[in-house]
Amino acid sequence: MTVRVPFVDLRTQHQTLMPELMDAFRQVTESSAFAGGPFVAQFESEFAAFCHARYALGVGSGTDALWLSLLSLGVGPGDEVITTPNTFMATAEAISICGARPVFVDIDQRTYTMDPSKLEQAITLRTQAIIPVHIFGQTADMDAIRAIAARHGTPVVEDACQAHGAEYKGRRAGSLGGRGCINLYHGKNLGAFGEAGAVTTEEPELRAKVQALRDHGQASKNLHSTIGWNARMDGIQAAVLSVKLRHLEMANQARQAHAQLYDQLLADEPRVTRPWVAPYAKHVFHIYAVRVRNRDEVLQRMGAHGVHCAVHYPLPIHLQKAYSFLGLGAGSFRVAERCSQELLSLPMYPELRQEDIELVVQVLKKCLQS
Ligand SMILES: Cc1ncc(COP(=O)(O)O)c(C=O)c1O
Repeated sequence: MTVRVPFVDLRTQHQTLMPELMDAFRQVTESSAFAGGPFVAQFESEFAAFCHARYALGVGSGTDALWLSLLSLGVGPGDEVITTPNTFMATAEAISICGARPVFVDIDQRTYTMDPSKLEQAITLRTQAIIPVHIFGQTADMDAIRAIAARHGTPVVEDACQAHGAEYKGRRAGSLGGRGCINLYHGKNLGAFGEAGAVTTEEPELRAKVQALRDHGQASKNLHSTIGWNARMDGIQAAVLSVKLRHLEMANQARQAHAQLYDQLLADEPRVTRPWVAPYAKHVFHIYAVRVRNRDEVLQRMGAHGVHCAVHYPLPIHLQKAYSFLGLGAGSFRVAERCSQELLSLPMYPELRQEDIELVVQVLKKCLQS
């Protein structure tokens, strides 16, 4: 079956941006600024402004952003870090790579982000950080989470890997917790040509620590004040990101318009639960996820009709084999588990056409019936 609507289409986006991208490649090539350097510095200042943050630091990936942020907060063996189970594996991995233990809090059934009413009971004397995940393009309820964190003196690290430009009460993801971790993988709302990520922060000390950690612990050339890693951003990725950042606001607006059309066309379909936008949120629809009962069959049938959907995520982290040592069986986080069986991500990218969305909805309705 030929693909009638892909899940994501980067080709059209890149064709439109080709002259700007080619100019960026030329500039990087001519200056040979491949690792770190002026293109990274420029992107960092542009991206910090975009996120309403004081500083941004380019790193190699979203996973680097998360674990370097945790390391810079001093998270280590024996510590606990709280997050949600319906996220990409990397959120938990970053905690584990620091030697700490992930502790999960169930999600809210409407936003799919951390349920603040379940957070406090998960905090112990070992808790060193809380990572709310702004899933699908909508932020967690940050005032509620920050208030609990403040009562316990626990730092908050935003996982804003799916929320480029998302807002909470008018403030952007990445500036809502003191530290933000952003993945800039090519499929994201703002994506490099491969792997990249960024840490945002308000704190000069944290900035200095992450700056050293991403570059072998160097505080200055050949003076290694700590043991770090190579987690630098490439100049070529920064140049690509600067080009794409100029178009991000428009691209996010297109995603919102597509979400509105999906909402309208699905409004009369009782078998589909549409995404809920919290009153506090500007949702940027990295993913437009609906809930349906027989999700796996619907997914497969839609694929057979040439409409490619995806699932984020079919198995919550606490049920992954890699985390079986935590001893958390089925039933531990009921909302996340149920969502993992029902969530279906429909095609979403700025260049979607009205007729594509109409076709997706038509095929979805047909696949719900058969
Ligand atoms: C919520 C979330 N956290 C972390 C990551 C990890 O980012 P990366 O793949 O750049 O390491 C991702 C990547 O998709 C993500 O979606």
